Amino acid sequence: MSDSTTARTDRDDFQATRDPGLMHGADSGKVNLLSYSELYELWERQQWRTQDLDFTQDRIDWHGFPEEERFQRMYGLSSFFIGEQRVADELGPMMRAAPTEEMRIFLCTQIADEARHVAFFNRFYDQVGVLESDSLQGRLEETSAHLNPQFHVLFDELLKGKVDRLARNPEDLETLVEAITLYHMIIEGMLALTGQHFIISYNEENGTLPAFVEGFNNVARDEHRHVAFGARFLREMAEADSRYREAIQRTLIEAGPAADGVLTPPWYEEGMELFGVSLEETRAFAMKALERRLKVIGLAPVASS
Ligand SMILES: [Fe+2]
Ligand SMILES: [Fe+2]
Repeated sequence: MSDSTTARTDRDDFQATRDPGLMHGADSGKVNLLSYSELYELWERQQWRTQDLDFTQDRIDWHGFPEEERFQRMYGLSSFFIGEQRVADELGPMMRAAPTEEMRIFLCTQIADEARHVAFFNRFYDQVGVLESDSLQGRLEETSAHLNPQFHVLFDELLKGKVDRLARNPEDLETLVEAITLYHMIIEGMLALTGQHFIISYNEENGTLPAFVEGFNNVARDEHRHVAFGARFLREMAEADSRYREAIQRTLIEAGPAADGVLTPPWYEEGMELFGVSLEETRAFAMKALERRLKVIGLAPVASS
């Protein structure tokens, strides 16, 4: 059974986020989540710069990969790059709709983080020479050819639909709960952190793309902080009103099939390994982390041990 903690995520800076997905105590529902202002302060301490990354060795590694491997790696890279752009662009109305100033201030920091994540991929593509295009817009268009249709269902129908509704009615807390469930629990918690875990581990084991790995670790640490915010918000809302509990459950069910689809590249064939692991192992990792977070939110049964 795969666990969602590793030597990397046991590091102090990852544990400092208190994301239940990284905490063994979450199996029994016991995690002291940070307050919104503590999450803000952690953000101040966890700054990094895409400009500090030197992709010289990554460029050599990338152009040494067989063509087939480069093609397969493009699915994960493209999903992340376009995913980061989508979440950066959709977070504004969610920030505006958050009911307290502390929540809004944290979400402002998250908008800055998501912008930095887009810049990280853009710089990787630029310095490594992965694509034909030489502009951000051109790179977004060029990489979109690698996505699968479920990606568009998740981001362009489900996420955008909820955020458009919130933009029209910022007082609609039930829609905010749906949007945070989809954004922080499914997109960041289940999909992004799972992809990051296996992509980073694969490159570490093979000694490839060192600057990419360094930057992607920083992205992952940011994502754990974002997910920790989502867990706190959803726990408070679930405790406040059963309507919000139902909104969380409804969203998990609604988005489940599309989320599962995003874990599967369009060229996937039965039995294939992705970054050295089976699709089943990838799914199990994503589900374990979700289960821990739901326990802490109060929506999944807790082991009695
Ligand atoms: Fe991100
Ligand atoms: Fe994020």
